[in-house]
Amino acid sequence: MALYDDETFFDGYAGMPRSRFGLGAAGEWAQFERLLPRDMRGLDVLDLGCGYGWHCAYCAARGARSVLGLDPSEKMLARARELNAAPQIEYRLGAVEDYLWPEAAFDLAVSNLALHYVEELPPVFAGVYRALRPGGTFALNMEHPAFTSGVNEDWFRDGAGLILHWPIDRYFEPGARATLFCGCEVTKYHHTLAQILGGLLSAGFALTAVDEARPSPELLAADPAMYDELRRPMMLLVRAEKRPRP
Ligand SMILES: C[S@@+](CC[C@H](N)C(=O)[O-])C[C@H]1O[C@@H](n2cnc3c(N)ncnc32)[C@H](O)[C@@H]1O
Repeated sequence: MALYDDETFFDGYAGMPRSRFGLGAAGEWAQFERLLPRDMRGLDVLDLGCGYGWHCAYCAARGARSVLGLDPSEKMLARARELNAAPQIEYRLGAVEDYLWPEAAFDLAVSNLALHYVEELPPVFAGVYRALRPGGTFALNMEHPAFTSGVNEDWFRDGAGLILHWPIDRYFEPGARATLFCGCEVTKYHHTLAQILGGLLSAGFALTAVDEARPSPELLAADPAMYDELRRPMMLLVRAEKRPRP
């Protein structure tokens, strides 16, 4: 069973602001949106780990010709079909590891907060490269290596529960890390920064933007707890372009 089909986990995820209110409630969205083409008219789009389909609906609303949202969770796809349906969007059950990458079929591939669930990134990067047309864009956001190498993905606190620091350990040991998320034990995969950025370069991409999610001034003003998000990066955002191999 896919993690997001676990009832306890799914209910926890459903309660998050991003699940209830969509992209506007996702702290990273303003930065991720900057990675996407402004004009999507006529584009064929692939969303890897589409979840509720917020990004699929966004691309469709901006004029994409077709959008394929891929996700291994039946429950997430059921929500996507309820909340974010459009004639040009197809939601398809499947994990990225099992996707049969077509040749030069898409102009834009997006992936938001899904790739840290994938153990082996090189085949995925190679697949996206193959599936994009020349000049196509890959916009991805995944948990930052400083976050995935955090001990239990949690702060180190004093006896009174106050945050002392964010511990990092076994940074150069990529692989599975057990974490607690939405009330469940969840396995995520740590990849080093060089593996992610170097992996994209090795696949043939040119990097055209690299960013790290941080709360906006508005978010900081609205919620002082957000200042803790300035103590360590949680997400790594990258835009890569398919260039012909030399
Ligand atoms: C945090 S949610 C993000 C959903 C969506 N991209 C968004 O930003 O709203 C992570 C999603 O990744 C999906 N996922 C997990 N493992 C995956 C895999 N191996 N291949 C594709 N998607 C996966 C989950 O089912 C879930 O829907």
